[in-house]
Amino acid sequence: MRPADLARRKQAGLPITVLTAWDALSGALVAEAGADAVLVGDSLAMVVLGHPTTLPVTLDEMLHHCRATARGMASACAAGHEPLLICDLPFLSYQCQPDDAVAAAGRVLKQSPAAAVKLEGAEPETLAVIDRLVRSGIPVMGHVGLTPQSVHRTGYRRQATDAASRERLRTAARALEQAGCFALVVEHVPAEAATELSHTLTIPVIGIGAGDSCDGQVRVTADLLGLTGSQPPFSPPLLQGRSLALEALRLWLAAQSRPSSTTAPAAPHC
Ligand code: KIV
Repeated sequence: MRPADLARRKQAGLPITVLTAWDALSGALVAEAGADAVLVGDSLAMVVLGHPTTLPVTLDEMLHHCRATARGMASACAAGHEPLLICDLPFLSYQCQPDDAVAAAGRVLKQSPAAAVKLEGAEPETLAVIDRLVRSGIPVMGHVGLTPQSVHRTGYRRQATDAASRERLRTAARALEQAGCFALVVEHVPAEAATELSHTLTIPVIGIGAGDSCDGQVRVTADLLGLTGSQPPFSPPLLQGRSLALEALRLWLAAQSRPSSTTAPAAPHC
C-alpha cells in the first residue's frame, strides 16, 4: 500500500483502516489482521513507555519502535498484504526549524521502512514544513482536531464544538490539503464536522472519535484490545484484554504455588 492507494480507496468509496503498532508483536497482529495502514503513533509514549503525555518520546525512540514494528509486519508482507507504514514525528522534532523537520522526517524514511510521516497541527510554520517535506519527496499525513502534542494548551477536550472553532477546523483541513498532505487524521470532533471534511476534501479523512462517516478510521490498538488501564470515551475496547491477561497470569502463578504433586510433570531435560 502506498499513500496514493489510500486516495484511490476513497475515490472507489472503500473504507480505509489504520491501526497503531509499537513493536514486532503488535506490528504482526495488525498487519495479519489486514489493516490498510499501520501507524507507529507517538501515543506509544503513553501506552508503551508509561509517560503521562506524548511529549517526552524522542525521534530515536520512535525509530526504534518503527523498525521493530516493521520486522513484525514482515510475515504479513511476505504473504502478500503490505500495509502502508507511517511513523509519527514526535514533539519538537519538526516545530523548531524547517531544516530540522526535513532532517527528522528524512531519518524516518532512511533509517526505518516507514514510507510516510504524520505530524500535528496546521500553524503557518507547520504548513511551511509540510510543503518542504512534500517537495523533498516525503509523504505527510496531517492531524487536526484534538492534537495530543498540544495537551498543555487544549487538554484532551473535544474540539470544533462551536461555530468559530469549527471554521478554524475547516480552514486548517483545507490548508493541509493544499500543503500536500496525502491524508488527514481528524481526532475527537463532532461527527458532522468530520463528515463535512470527508465530503469537501479530496484527500482521505481518517477519523478517531469523529463519527462513523469519515473515509476511514484509525484506532490505538492497545485501546481497542482493552490492554490499557482505561480508554478514551471515543475509543471503547472490543475485548477486555488486560483483565483476560491478568486472569491467565494469576492462574499460572497460583498453579506454581501448589504442591509439586498437583502440578504437571516438568519436561525432561535433553
Ligand atoms: O499517536 C497516535 O496513536 C495517533 C492516533 C491517535 C491517530 O496519533
